Amino acid sequence: MANKILVGAQWGDEGKGKITDLLARTADVIVRFGGGNNAGHTVIVGDQKFELHLIPSGILYAEKINIIGNGVVIDPAALVKEMQMLEERGISLDNFFISEIAHVIMPYHRLLDKLEEERKGEGKIGTTGKGIGPAYTDKVARRGIRLIDTLDKERFYRRLTDALEYQNLLLEKVYGVEPLKAEDIMEEYREYIDIIRKHVTDTTLLLDKARREGKEIFFEGAQGTLLDVDYGTYPYVTSSNPTAGGVCTGTGFGPAGIDGVIGVAKAYVTRVGEGPFPTELKNETGDYLREKGHEYGVTTGRPRRCGWFDIPIIKHAVRVNGLTELALTKLDVLTGMEELKVCVGYKYQGEYLSEFPLEQETLFNCEPVYETMAGWSEDISGYTEYEQLPQAARAYIEYIEKESGIPVKIIGTGPEREQIIIR
Ligand code: GDP
Ligand code: IMO
Ligand code: MG
Repeated sequence: MANKILVGAQWGDEGKGKITDLLARTADVIVRFGGGNNAGHTVIVGDQKFELHLIPSGILYAEKINIIGNGVVIDPAALVKEMQMLEERGISLDNFFISEIAHVIMPYHRLLDKLEEERKGEGKIGTTGKGIGPAYTDKVARRGIRLIDTLDKERFYRRLTDALEYQNLLLEKVYGVEPLKAEDIMEEYREYIDIIRKHVTDTTLLLDKARREGKEIFFEGAQGTLLDVDYGTYPYVTSSNPTAGGVCTGTGFGPAGIDGVIGVAKAYVTRVGEGPFPTELKNETGDYLREKGHEYGVTTGRPRRCGWFDIPIIKHAVRVNGLTELALTKLDVLTGMEELKVCVGYKYQGEYLSEFPLEQETLFNCEPVYETMAGWSEDISGYTEYEQLPQAARAYIEYIEKESGIPVKIIGTGPEREQIIIR
């Protein structure tokens, strides 16, 4: 039994949903530890496509326990919508649990997210607008509302009235918009809370029980390493720690119980939102990758920026997550390109940088240094054996392995469940 963490190695949307669905087959418990409904994880099973934002991608296996940990911020409206979508499609929620100490996204969080992006104008982050940043801000500022606070009507009213004293000052005096009323929010949220209620519990007890019984636990990351509030391209990041360390604080599961960390990386790189992206292709090649790879956001529908594979990013992800293996997705998308470029370092003010700079001013002014590799023309979609891959594709993977120092154990050859190579 091995308890593993899965994290995004780049800027999110690496295919974590698909890989979680694959690896959850042998797991007993699947846990989300951070982020919120800014995430959008796609799982395709047969002719059915599921887009999950909050509920772990293991939910499609009825017998497995799926948990939303305390590190996740929960928008009750979004959660109920997702629960209803799953139930309508015949997916059972009997084994689905949510941490009682997870923080709740309130209407003022969504509002403040949008107002703050508008205020920033050109300098905006390009957030998903889901209220994620303001919700985490309130958690750390010790004025957040947790799920458990919402279960009792009077307690919820008290907490909300206290919170609104501050939030309405912000809304009225800083942003010049109408204040919100506790009664209106209570009325809207009561309906959601009544649906969620029976799933809310102390999930640290469930995880501890699973650990003691030798059950296999799988931690499904959201976002990606470069969106981490510490290790990402700050300030163009999300407001949580999607890196492996987030598992311990986001679920209450200790580090000694963890056996490995899988990094998911796309065979090229994409990013949604603003911020530096050294290997970005603002040309026909970038457009080609976007169309061929269907690179449009699951959560916001925004076109994703596309670029060449970047080795320093992966080396950084290996370090800060302690990655033990890689899953390389969307290799099939690269078919048909005459040659492929892989960034091996950057030029910055006449110097050569072999490591990913953590500081945005440097990163914005970095020029990638590329190694050029041969492409392949064989259609590899759906291949399931490594040996079936054309020599050039294997050379590409083996180059990534050599440079990153960890093995590529899983290779995606298409969006569907079976379109995968496991080495
Ligand atoms: P996540 O947020 O990391 O779970 O990734 P998303 O679901 O946002 O985006 C990944 C997209 O790539 C989804 O549309 C997947 O169906 C798709 N996908 C995942 N793996 C592969 C692959 O190996 N090949 C292709 N062509 N598509 C893939
Ligand atoms: P998954 O789990 C890609 C990005 C947003 C924005 C920045 C901050 O599907 O990989 P936020 O709303 O979190 O305050 O936005 O982070 N972002 C993601 N990009 N995939 C995600 O999740 C993302 N979650 C947040 O686009 O640039
Ligand atoms: Mg996504």
